[in-house]
Amino acid sequence: MSRVAVVTGGTRGIGEAISLALKEMGHAVAAIYAGNEGKAQAFSDRTGIATFKWDVGNHQACLDGCAAVNEVLGPVDIVVNNAGITRDGVLSKMSFDDWNEVLRINLGGCFNMAKAAFGGMRNRGWGRIVNIGSVNGQSGQYGQVNYAAAKSGIHGFTKALAQEGAKYGVTVNAIAPGYIDTDMVAAVPLPVLEKIVARIPVGRLGQAQEIARGVAFLCSDDAGFVTGSTMSINGGQHMY
Ligand code: CAA
Repeated sequence: MSRVAVVTGGTRGIGEAISLALKEMGHAVAAIYAGNEGKAQAFSDRTGIATFKWDVGNHQACLDGCAAVNEVLGPVDIVVNNAGITRDGVLSKMSFDDWNEVLRINLGGCFNMAKAAFGGMRNRGWGRIVNIGSVNGQSGQYGQVNYAAAKSGIHGFTKALAQEGAKYGVTVNAIAPGYIDTDMVAAVPLPVLEKIVARIPVGRLGQAQEIARGVAFLCSDDAGFVTGSTMSINGGQHMY
């Protein structure tokens, strides 16, 4: 059955792969982006997937944005909260803005999008919310108190909302990716990244499609009994 899916951060990196996987499942996809117009346009031209621009850290923008998706594609059945940023730095060098912006977007975005879509899913008796956490939210990471706190928060948020959605057919799950071959990971200084990869038992970075396949499963009808879970896809880096 064709559904309407919203993927935040859906035009690049892991989000792009997720948007494509959900489209391949036959869903109408809205890929949300915050700023990179050029990449969003190129993505839309290449894939035929509709793009919408808003800041997921802005509560009202999420309410208005999901209403706009509703008008164009129909009621939102699937939300993938993938949008995220890093502002890495050790605590002594991290500004309050670096802390706040990561919490506002990475964790606040999940709340804002759930507020916009959860009620409709519950009323219609079917919904899927997949939140993209991180191995670093499970294990912590040097230089990432903001990101690790936000991602760890996502895992708690997932388990709490799963309990609210279960009896209405709305599942809420998380995926905790490890280090995936994306622009975000490419920004990690090479000597640091080499040390991290050396600690991944599979011996390589992950591919965005390897995360997207997990998301596709969690969004399927087959996954109706899976809720409140965290799927770790990290090459064995952290066995949780
Ligand atoms: N554990 C212990 N000590 C560490 C360490 C670690 N993991 N990493 C660095 N250090 C030490 C260094 O050895 C160094 O010590 P000395 O001064 O005694 O030599 C000290 O900490 C300072 O290290 P840097 O020179 O790296 O410090 P910096 O201020 O220039 O940079 C940093 C700090 C920005 C955090 C940098 O180390 C960094 O970018 N680290 C990578 C963080 C990371 O993994 N980010 C992931 C981004 S991708 C992502 O988040 C996606 C996902 O979900 C997985």
